[in-house]
Amino acid sequence: MIVVVVVVGLLAATMPESSFVAAVQDFILSDKSCYISGEAPLISFDTVRPTDEDWIGIYPSGNVSPDADPSLWLWTCGTQECWGKMTRGSISFGKSSEYVDIWPLDAGSYRAVLARNSQTDEFAYDFAATSPIFKVDSSCGTVGPEPNSANPTNMGPSTNIPTIATPTTNVPATANPTTYTPTSTAPSTRAPATVVPSTKEPINASPATSHPSLRTPTPVSTDAPVHNTQNKSMSSVIAAAKQELASLIRANPTLGPLLLRMVFHDCVGGCDGCINMSSPENARLDSAMYSLDSLVTKYEPMGLTRPDIWVLAATTGVELSMLDTEFCAIPFTSIGRQPCEAAHMTEGPNPEVCSSNIDTDDILIFFRATFGFTPQEAAALMGAHTVGRLRRDVLGFDGPNGRTLDNALFNNGYYKELVGPGTTYQEQVDNAPNWHQAFVDNSDLLGIPNRYQWEGSTNGEKIVMTNSDIALVRQLDSGNKAENGHVGCQFVPRGGSDETTCPMARSDLFVEMVKYRNDNQRFLHDFRDAFTKMTQTGYVVDTSSCDQHGICRLVKA
Ligand code: HEM
Repeated sequence: MIVVVVVVGLLAATMPESSFVAAVQDFILSDKSCYISGEAPLISFDTVRPTDEDWIGIYPSGNVSPDADPSLWLWTCGTQECWGKMTRGSISFGKSSEYVDIWPLDAGSYRAVLARNSQTDEFAYDFAATSPIFKVDSSCGTVGPEPNSANPTNMGPSTNIPTIATPTTNVPATANPTTYTPTSTAPSTRAPATVVPSTKEPINASPATSHPSLRTPTPVSTDAPVHNTQNKSMSSVIAAAKQELASLIRANPTLGPLLLRMVFHDCVGGCDGCINMSSPENARLDSAMYSLDSLVTKYEPMGLTRPDIWVLAATTGVELSMLDTEFCAIPFTSIGRQPCEAAHMTEGPNPEVCSSNIDTDDILIFFRATFGFTPQEAAALMGAHTVGRLRRDVLGFDGPNGRTLDNALFNNGYYKELVGPGTTYQEQVDNAPNWHQAFVDNSDLLGIPNRYQWEGSTNGEKIVMTNSDIALVRQLDSGNKAENGHVGCQFVPRGGSDETTCPMARSDLFVEMVKYRNDNQRFLHDFRDAFTKMTQTGYVVDTSSCDQHGICRLVKA
């Protein structure tokens, strides 16, 4: 076995910045966008063609290059001394004997990189995927809550930021990684900050198993009625899948909202388990898709399709983020959504999702045309924006705290940020929070346009809305809104401003926003119904197939 210590400065390979962008199938992601000093980043990765020469490096974001030193690195099997081919996993970069001298990471911005040593040139390596930027900063703990993990029993979100221990939950691509016994010289002589992983002699020549997402989906028979013994067990299959999904989401709290956004995009044009990642509006959704791969592989043979599991995952995420006292179950009672026919889930059909600069009337047109929604259903579904966040490196909006007071809690908080208290329309407009537009300069981010967004503050933390949110309560159209998103009227009347106040949105929409502001239970029930309708888009329920648990098969409309 040859272990060569490679000093980065000796590396010949130089690559243009653009080649560092993640291949469509490989991804790497940090569990948070901001860490307090000394907190361990948990880095998740997924790769289509794993080799036992894959490693993860953390680089200062301004210097992500094979010519530069990674600040920290580990093989994808989890240490600097293990061997193994890993398809996917999560690695904690906590304090470790491997880089005790340079721990913790200095304050600054970083990216994680999935790197792969060349099989032919022991001095060369390449970057297969690069994560979005994350920060290490002493103020991170005060920037507002990260979406938190729900309590272990069931649905109530805890307000604690989960402590991430150092488990390495990697999925070996072949067998379990064997532990490498270091020679007296090799790994221990590496000076971590100045060396990169050296080429290893492969000890396991067996080919990696193929990536689950590349398998041909197991078709669900549409012949079998649901009311038979096989389908009696369908409710237990669903319960088991849901339990595993809950564990996955609890372990990665930002995943829940991302899954919800993913399912919305998937169901535009019919829920088919495929989202075309070449479309910029779908940015980041591939990480959500890949996170479900192993569960798709496990549950497909039991009768749940990939789009079924995506819907179940989003459902689980929403339920987990409700308060116990306000809990409103979202029943998962329909199965049999058919995966698209594209070769890969990231290539499916690409129907247009609504723009974040959409006009008020066009929102209603979009939801009617796409899901057959009334204004009330459109207003209810948009309450999904209560949770989650807006990331500048995804679509160009800068809202790490999201749109609401508590962006981890699924309730009617969104409507309270958009509609003021009061019994008349005038009061509900005048007493609303004081949103103002701000310019977001994204010229430092390749391919991300500059934006206008609406900013407010709650408990001293910045929260953010886009025009598509504001348009639910103010009548936005080409008369008061430019193509670049700039709006020429103000949200609430402000003394001393020359700008007029934007008119209230059409009353059939506004009235629903008011109802949800004032009645959380009503919102949760109506969201449940609108979400269920959205997640059956493209199908009709075959009522003759329903079993005694009410689980029915969907057939293509
Ligand atoms: C007019 C239609 C909509 C527009 C223009 C829109 C736009 C956006 C934008 C710009 C973001 C920020 C993405 C980011 O920076 O990561 C976002 C996030 C999100 N959207 Fe929407 N959205 C719409 C409808 C919906 C619907 C119908 C749902 C769900 C049913 C939804 C669920 C979400 C969620 C949960 C997030 C947070 C994602 C995260 O934290 O990763 N959106 N949306």
